[in-house]
Amino acid sequence: MPKRVQGSMKICIIGAGFVGLATGVTLGKQGHEVVFSDIDPGRVKSVNSGILPFFEPPLEKELKALVRKGKLTATTDSVGAVSASKFVFVCVQTPSLPSGRIDTRPVKSACNSIAKALRASNDYKVVVMKSTVVPSTTDSLVLPIIEKGSGKSAGKDFGLCMNPEFLQEGSALRDSMEPSRIVIGSLDKRSGDMLESLYKKMKSPLLRTDIRSAEMTKYASNTFLATKISYSNEVANMCERFGIDSEPVLKAVGMDPRIGPLFLRPGVGFGGSCLPKDVRALRDRARLDGYNSRLLSTLLAMNDEQPQEAIRLLEKAIGDIGSKRIAVLGLAFKGGVDDVRETRALPLITHLLAKRARVVAFDPMAIPNFIRLMPTIEYASSAAECLKGADGCIVQADWPQFKKIGKREISSMRQRVIIDGRRCLNPAAVRRAGARYLGIGYGLQEKD
Ligand SMILES: NC(=O)c1ccc[n+]([C@@H]2O[C@H](COP(=O)([O-])OP(=O)(O)OC[C@H]3O[C@@H](n4cnc5c(N)ncnc54)[C@H](O)[C@@H]3O)[C@@H](O)[C@H]2O)c1
Repeated sequence: MPKRVQGSMKICIIGAGFVGLATGVTLGKQGHEVVFSDIDPGRVKSVNSGILPFFEPPLEKELKALVRKGKLTATTDSVGAVSASKFVFVCVQTPSLPSGRIDTRPVKSACNSIAKALRASNDYKVVVMKSTVVPSTTDSLVLPIIEKGSGKSAGKDFGLCMNPEFLQEGSALRDSMEPSRIVIGSLDKRSGDMLESLYKKMKSPLLRTDIRSAEMTKYASNTFLATKISYSNEVANMCERFGIDSEPVLKAVGMDPRIGPLFLRPGVGFGGSCLPKDVRALRDRARLDGYNSRLLSTLLAMNDEQPQEAIRLLEKAIGDIGSKRIAVLGLAFKGGVDDVRETRALPLITHLLAKRARVVAFDPMAIPNFIRLMPTIEYASSAAECLKGADGCIVQADWPQFKKIGKREISSMRQRVIIDGRRCLNPAAVRRAGARYLGIGYGLQEKD
């Protein structure tokens, strides 16, 4: 049995983003004292006021309550925050460089702060990598930076673990509090035992591994999810051409316990802050060791092309889209979030503009973020306004409110055509409201 972590622990979370805040709130709710450190003073101020810097309502509610109770605080002083803590979670971003490789500068900078704090401390602290990093990053980049900067030895003076995060945006708090599994890769047994004990209140299955296996688990999971989505898109693209509705086909496929029902919904491709970057990063990492992953290259190429399927359907319905007014509903990478990182709305609208369409776009939450990527298109203040006078509409994100589009909104369109780019609408309901329905993987025509 791992040695028990006694009572309330002091925990430092470096990086107050999706992963950092979800982790900190989860540990705060379990009675621990959490300090977030972030280089962004605006973010620190926002967290200290109990306000999330992104849209994730259940997480914000709990953050507010814990900040009010004095259980969570935030600071820009990483060194001070690490010094005062027993566990240090590294939750900074690891975005793609143009080559596909991950940008490790935020990780390096977090490690330098940890090293500075450790230099002045004789306390055994556990450093936990939660940021997604390619195999061997923790032992060949993180470890030497901390050892060199602190003058201390990993496994003796401080502990080192890799604990990948599997949460999804839109359900960040639930996923963090009830993860499908907890993977702890540890350099030394002592730190692995301490981290296991910190998670003792969680009922999730827990796997102990070495550090590189833990790093690889995250990439193996995300590239499998990307494969499942792309496979669904492949089946759907064929179904549409064969005059078949892919929905019952994929539903039946998902009933096979060897396959499972989730992530089998076709659409305009996978986006968000994780899947595309993780596929690129693993492909790049494999190349370093002389392995050419044809599967990962194919996933990326297919994903690049998938938004064009929605445009093809639109052209099938209304012909040339040059100078036509096209409504795009949903700009976030999926419904329910305001995150636009790698959203498929960007290539979709870029292709529409290249074909000289006039684009008007709406999203319930993501317009302020998307406007920074595309300042010059027209934005509507509601789905109804977006559809007014449109010659066609593409639904790009599965916001539940788009299901409520009815006769009134449809009748204001110039050409009543809805392209369901996420298979989130009911074809019969769209038709009853007076529009022609075409969807990714929907090959049936005028009847259901
Ligand atoms: N977002 C997700 O859904 C998700 C899910 C699982 C894993 N991940 C992985 O977790 C990591 C974090 O992702 P995220 O979405 O939470 O990132 P994010 O961009 O939302 O947040 C990262 C935060 O770290 C801060 N930061 C950067 N350098 C810092 C430093 N040196 N010191 C202190 N703070 C610093 C940034 O200011 C930012 O607030 C990434 O590796 C990502 O791939 C993300």
